[in-house]
Amino acid sequence: MSIMAAGGAGAALTTLVHSESVNGRDSRMTTEEQAATVIPVARAFSGQHSPKPLTFDPAKLKGLSEKLVRSHWENNYGGAVKALNAVEQRIAAMLTDKDLPPYIYGDLKREELVRTGSVVLHENYFANLGGDGKASGKVLDLIKQWFGNYELWEAEFKKTANALSGGSGWTILSYNLHTGEVHNYWAWDHMHNAPMGYPLLVLDMYEHAYHMDYGAAAAKYIDAFMQNVNWDEVNRRAEAMRIPK
Ligand SMILES: [Fe+2]
Repeated sequence: MSIMAAGGAGAALTTLVHSESVNGRDSRMTTEEQAATVIPVARAFSGQHSPKPLTFDPAKLKGLSEKLVRSHWENNYGGAVKALNAVEQRIAAMLTDKDLPPYIYGDLKREELVRTGSVVLHENYFANLGGDGKASGKVLDLIKQWFGNYELWEAEFKKTANALSGGSGWTILSYNLHTGEVHNYWAWDHMHNAPMGYPLLVLDMYEHAYHMDYGAAAAKYIDAFMQNVNWDEVNRRAEAMRIPK
């Protein structure tokens, strides 16, 4: 995700009126009093994320319709970006509320995690589409190192994905920063990933990613996905992480 510039030197900061205004007492505050209670809000809660555009022509994917991909990008990914912005802004508004129950704040923090996970994984998913599906380069070397050969890795990746069919989740070829290993990880939702897992290849297994084209036939969607993997992007991620052999 990217952060939209709000313009000017103060783009990294927005402002927030003190919680009394939220509690309905601002009507008794003078302009000077309101100005005195305006506090800076950290960039972390600016709620100014914007969707990343598709990096390929969705009409040219093999086995995945343009209608499906555009709907997925606009409604599910775009919806996650909007939701993350809304959550961040609510968090900002609550930072100065001394009476806020912790469990209410906890709900927002959970939503922050859910929406951030959705945005990050969707951006990885769309960016690793649009290729010819032919594995090559550093990641192919890593696959051979950790799985023996490409065929065994692909079979295990597909088996992991099929285990999520009919429901929701993600299948992720991941470099584990803690263990130093490369694995295919199963993720039940946007919050699930092996701790310290850095995504190299991301497959969306939510039904919204394939139902329009394949109904409940998730295995056909998985086959179509594999034909469109952009291995140049997958290799770029591996190179950026400087994964040792
Ligand atoms: Fe999705």
